[in-house]
Amino acid sequence: MENSHLIFVLLSSVLVLGDGSSRNLPILSFDEGYSQLFGDDNLIVLKDGKSVHLSLDERTGSGFVSQDLYFHGFFSASIKLPADYTAGVVVAFYMSNGDIFEKNHDEIDFEFLGNIRGKEWRIQTNIYGNGSTIAGREERYGLWFDPSDDFHQYSILWTHTHIIFYVDDVAIGEIRRTETMGGDFPSKPMTLYATIWDASKWATNGGKYKVNYKYAPYIAEFSNFVLHGCAVDPIDLTSFKCETTPNPNPILTGITPSQRAKMESFRKKHMQYSYCYDKIRYKTPPSECVFNVKEAERLKKFDPVTFGGGHNRHHGKRYRRSRTAASI
Ligand SMILES: *[C@@H]1O[C@H](CO)[C@@H](O)[C@H](O)[C@H]1NC(C)=O
Repeated sequence: MENSHLIFVLLSSVLVLGDGSSRNLPILSFDEGYSQLFGDDNLIVLKDGKSVHLSLDERTGSGFVSQDLYFHGFFSASIKLPADYTAGVVVAFYMSNGDIFEKNHDEIDFEFLGNIRGKEWRIQTNIYGNGSTIAGREERYGLWFDPSDDFHQYSILWTHTHIIFYVDDVAIGEIRRTETMGGDFPSKPMTLYATIWDASKWATNGGKYKVNYKYAPYIAEFSNFVLHGCAVDPIDLTSFKCETTPNPNPILTGITPSQRAKMESFRKKHMQYSYCYDKIRYKTPPSECVFNVKEAERLKKFDPVTFGGGHNRHHGKRYRRSRTAASI
């Protein structure tokens, strides 16, 4: 088992080498990789068999799930989000094993949070390990494009040592496993899910804006399915078989320096929330957090209360005033 781990870590870093290489992976049809999870005819497989529409209307949301369980791999889909007024609508593309491990499940999430008209979708990433739902490792970002205009590729790389979230070929966030994380790092087989649902209670400004069914159906489109990993035997969860990768190059591991530069510039421009800098939530950041001065500065400007370490709004205001004074 440890050997396959190691081999897979090496292979998986090859998958994401440089720009566009993820496109060399086999694209599955919907039926090859997934099955419907819920939503009756609110899930439509298009004629090519490779694209799916998930819709939300007043009756129900909808969703699909991978046929296989996976232990590590590269998982990807091209997604186009519903346009216009989407407050309260959440589209999620994620891995979970909540159905098998009810008390101590793992999860790796992309969540798209809808918005009122004229404001763009935001994207949230998160992970849970072994039921660590109290911790929460959310990060939230704006995007450099309108994700309802066109398809973009969203990918999760999950290995023994790290988890990387990609939008197109840009790594937007990385969580490296540390000793201290223990069970908080996802480490049991998971299935892939895609869903659209009504999250009026919390999605947009903490539930201030609800789903408005006047604009229904809300349709999220999915295609370009990549499920490239180690498929697990559902009876014996410790037995798995990894896909081989074309032209493996075992020398490279992790994010390349040019990808890292892109990631840093993305985060400096678009990050709106990171648990690593949330001083209200964590007095000391969790062990995997790497402090970055520019990220800290950006977030402090964005929300001085959460990221400045103040205890109330007055503190935040004072912070802003003193900055202004200092810069005059
Ligand atoms: C995960 O949770 C189970 C049940 O709560 C516990 O027995 C186990 O030790 C935990 N594993 C790790 C790695 O923390």
